[in-house]
Amino acid sequence: MTAARLLPFLLIASACGSAAGQGDARGPVVFADNCAPCHGYAGEGKPSIATPAIAGLPSWYVEAQLGKFRGGMRGAHVDDAPGLRMRPMARALDDEDVSRIAAHVGSMPVQTPDRSAVPHGDAEAGKALYATCTACHGPEGKGNEQLNAPPIAQLDDWYMVTQLHNFKHGLRGAADGDITGAQMRPMAMTLADDQAVADVVAYISTL
Ligand code: HEC
Ligand code: HEC
Repeated sequence: MTAARLLPFLLIASACGSAAGQGDARGPVVFADNCAPCHGYAGEGKPSIATPAIAGLPSWYVEAQLGKFRGGMRGAHVDDAPGLRMRPMARALDDEDVSRIAAHVGSMPVQTPDRSAVPHGDAEAGKALYATCTACHGPEGKGNEQLNAPPIAQLDDWYMVTQLHNFKHGLRGAADGDITGAQMRPMAMTLADDQAVADVVAYISTL
C-alpha cells in the first residue's frame, strides 16, 4: 500500500483509536520503522535472529515488558544475547511511543507460531506438567491480566524454551523489583530438566 493510500486509513484509525483509548496513527508508523525490521511487518517474528512473534500480545503485557527492557529488569543479563539486542530498541522509545506501540501490537492479528523447535517434546507428558501453569495462564494458555500472566498458547515453541531457560537460570525474573518475573521464576523451576521443558512446550503448542 502506498503512503498516500495508507494516510486516510491512519487518520480514521486515529479518530477511532482516541475515542476507544486504543493508541493513534503514530503507532503503526513507529512500529514499521523501529520494530518491523526484526519482528516482521505483521509482527510474525524471525526465528533466524531469535526474534519472537509479538502480534496480538495484549497491550498491557507489551507495555510492561517494554518498561522492563527500558529499566534493565529484562535484557540486561550478560548471557541473555537476544534480550541484549532488544533492550536498546525499547530504550530508544519515549513514554508516549511505548503506549502507542503497545496499543498497536495488541491490535495486530496473531500470526501462526513457529512450531519446529521441539520435535522431541512429549505433549502427553507435558500435559501433567502444565497443571501447575493453569492457575495463572489458564487451561487454554490464554493468560490472565489480573494475575499479570500473558497468553502463551500463541508463542513460538523455541521462544518458550528460551524464556523458560531464562527464568530458571535467573536471566529473566531475577532483577530487583521484577515482581511479576519473580512470580514466574519458581514455576519454571518446577520443570526439572530440558526434557520437561520440551514436554510442557509441546503440550502448550497443542492448545
Ligand atoms: C534488533 C532487533 C529487534 C528490534 C528492532 C526490536 N526487537 Fe523486540 N525483541 C527482539 C528480540 C531478539 C527479542 C527476544 C528477547 C528475549 O529472548 O528475551 C525481542 C522481544 C520483544 C518483546 C518480548 C515479547 C514477549 O513475549 O515477552 C517485545 C514485547 C518486543 N520485543 C517488542 C518490540 C517492539 C515494540 C519493538 C519496536 C519498538 C521491537 N521489539 C524492536 C529483537 C528486536
Ligand atoms: C503464579 C502465576 C504463574 C504460574 C503458575 C505460571 N506462570 Fe508463566 N508467567 C507468569 C507471569 C506473571 C509472567 C510474566 C512475567 C513477566 O512479567 O516478565 C509469566 C510468563 C511466562 C512466559 C513468558 C511469556 C512471554 O511472552 O515471554 C512463559 C513461556 C511462561 N510464563 C510459561 C509458564 C509455564 C510453562 C508454567 C508452568 C510450568 C507457568 N508459566 C506458570 C505467571 C505464572
